[in-house]
Amino acid sequence: MLKNRKILLGVTGSIAVYKSVDLVRRLTKEGASVQVIMTDASRKFVTPLSFEVVSQSRVFTDTFQDPLSHISLTSDADLMVIAPATANIVGKFAGGIADDMLSTCFLSFKGKTVIAPAMNWRMYENPVFQKNLGYLASLGVIQVGPEKGSLACGDDAVGRMSDVSDIMEGIRSALTRKDLSGKRIMVTAGPTREYMDPVRFMSNRSSGRMGYAIARAALRRGAEVILISGPSPLKPPSGAGFVAVETTGEMRDAVMKNLKDSDAVIMAAAVSDFSPEDKNDKKIDKSGGLVLKLKKTPDILSEIGFMKKRPFLVGFAAETGADISRARKKLLDKGADVVVFNNVLSPGSGFDVDTNQITIIQKEGESSFPLMSKDEVADLLLDRIAHFIP
Ligand SMILES: Cc1cc2nc3c(=O)[nH]c(=O)nc-3n(C[C@H](O)[C@H](O)[C@H](O)COP(=O)(O)O)c2cc1C
Repeated sequence: MLKNRKILLGVTGSIAVYKSVDLVRRLTKEGASVQVIMTDASRKFVTPLSFEVVSQSRVFTDTFQDPLSHISLTSDADLMVIAPATANIVGKFAGGIADDMLSTCFLSFKGKTVIAPAMNWRMYENPVFQKNLGYLASLGVIQVGPEKGSLACGDDAVGRMSDVSDIMEGIRSALTRKDLSGKRIMVTAGPTREYMDPVRFMSNRSSGRMGYAIARAALRRGAEVILISGPSPLKPPSGAGFVAVETTGEMRDAVMKNLKDSDAVIMAAAVSDFSPEDKNDKKIDKSGGLVLKLKKTPDILSEIGFMKKRPFLVGFAAETGADISRARKKLLDKGADVVVFNNVLSPGSGFDVDTNQITIIQKEGESSFPLMSKDEVADLLLDRIAHFIP
């Protein structure tokens, strides 16, 4: 998505400016070209050399250094990003002041701007700053953060610049067409756990990566997203409604509770299909061996599939082989609109990796795709769904 995109990055005088060196590195790694503008105050914290090295490009600091650069730089940029954004630069943007290279470029830029504010909580809460921020938001300036956390002054409060990965997501979102705006999409992700006693459970190898990628992609495309997740090490995407569950039964209840008003449900979770028939209240004694009797867990997909009135329904079929027949049968047996088949034993296409190779099965036909990133799979799937939930 960021390949060949031209990003104008403004950095200002906050201690958080060192994080922006990594931001440039990540943007260029994803194929974007980054042109950095530094304010005088930012150069007290980090030298232009650091940004020159990571962006492989000259850094601009002075409006008079290259007389028409405040127009030429912005005329072909796809996006302007200010990270970190000081209270001072936000005030200048809101007031239309153009007394340095960055504020002059902001006025001459016609495209979208993303800001990632960073400052002490007292400055952040100041009503003058809040008024300026609100005014920029009303003009369409996109704000990422700030977060609550440990600040440079030692206080634990709101004012910390968002993590670079969240700023990256804000940038991707700003560059994405909002074709799912007004839609509500529910996504399930991760494994579920079925306990045999208070400390032991049955589960599976799902990491949640596929479902989290779908939730992020749907958010970027403007949808309202509810993510219902079993235990996963991943950070929930900011902006999504998030429900953490453990067992298949809990996942079922959370899904049913949120079903109303959803336009589509994408069930990417790898739920445990069985659970121990009896759950012991105390840790089972290991002496003497153990025979477990299992029962089936609730079948969430078919429960929704055969409802009279229901959202567009997508299920996943993770198989351990290339035989697609069970996935085809699942489409009919569960009453789903789409089943996404993947062979988890095929290299790069299973649990705990960032790639997947899928076949989309619908009544209308099947399409197989090459190995691609889970982010790409997510967009591909949402392209299909967008077609059915106009
Ligand atoms: C150590 C130090 C840290 C600072 N951190 C911040 C900050 O995080 N956010 C902020 O708005 N101002 C911060 N300031 C104040 C700004 O650097 C100051 O307002 C400056 O004029 C901003 O200029 P600029 O917006 O042109 O970069 C800090 C100042 C110092 C000395």
